[in-house]
Amino acid sequence: MSDTTYLVLSIIFACFVLLMLGTALANLFYRVPYVPSKMRVIKRVLSLAKLKKGQKVYDLGCGDGRFLIEAYKKAQVDATGFEMAPIPYLLAQLNKYVHKAKVRIQMKNFFKYNLRDADVIFCYLLPETLADLKDKFLNECQKGTKIICHTFQIEGLTPVKVVVKNKKTGIPNIYMYKI
Ligand SMILES: C[S@@+](CC[C@H](N)C(=O)[O-])C[C@H]1O[C@@H](n2cnc3c(N)ncnc32)[C@H](O)[C@@H]1O
Repeated sequence: MSDTTYLVLSIIFACFVLLMLGTALANLFYRVPYVPSKMRVIKRVLSLAKLKKGQKVYDLGCGDGRFLIEAYKKAQVDATGFEMAPIPYLLAQLNKYVHKAKVRIQMKNFFKYNLRDADVIFCYLLPETLADLKDKFLNECQKGTKIICHTFQIEGLTPVKVVVKNKKTGIPNIYMYKI
């Protein structure tokens, strides 16, 4: 192996290790691992959301961005996702490019973003994070904003609709709230 090949391979390996480390640290720090939603769950959430063209849609912790991209493809919504972990963030940017979807993917802590213009918010987050978000939703979101949670519910809020887990279809519990 030539010195140049060795150097290039070492750089690629170092970048890969850094990305893995960054993702592991982000998952530890924000206490939510990257677990992508299955496409059938995304489709079910979108059918609940009843999106209209131009609505502001957010995915808090957007992972690889597929929810935003499907939402955009379905109803040309104005979709934004926040993702702090480097590997899912890069996957989301790649997916956005491949699907030519006009969605925004930001490497930003969603707790630092004001959600006042949200029409629909999607969350696939753990109960502790949802509990921390509850007051933010109540303080910032307009009346009528839909919040849809995959698997975990927001303690202290009453959902307007619950899709009950179905082992046959692989659909988990889904909770929809309205502010
Ligand atoms: C369970 S995954 C869900 C990914 C995507 N929403 C989906 O359903 O496929 C949750 C993601 O939220 C991200 N996350 C957790 N806390 C965050 C925060 N405060 N700001 C931005 N991203 C966060 C994690 O890095 C992780 O990738």
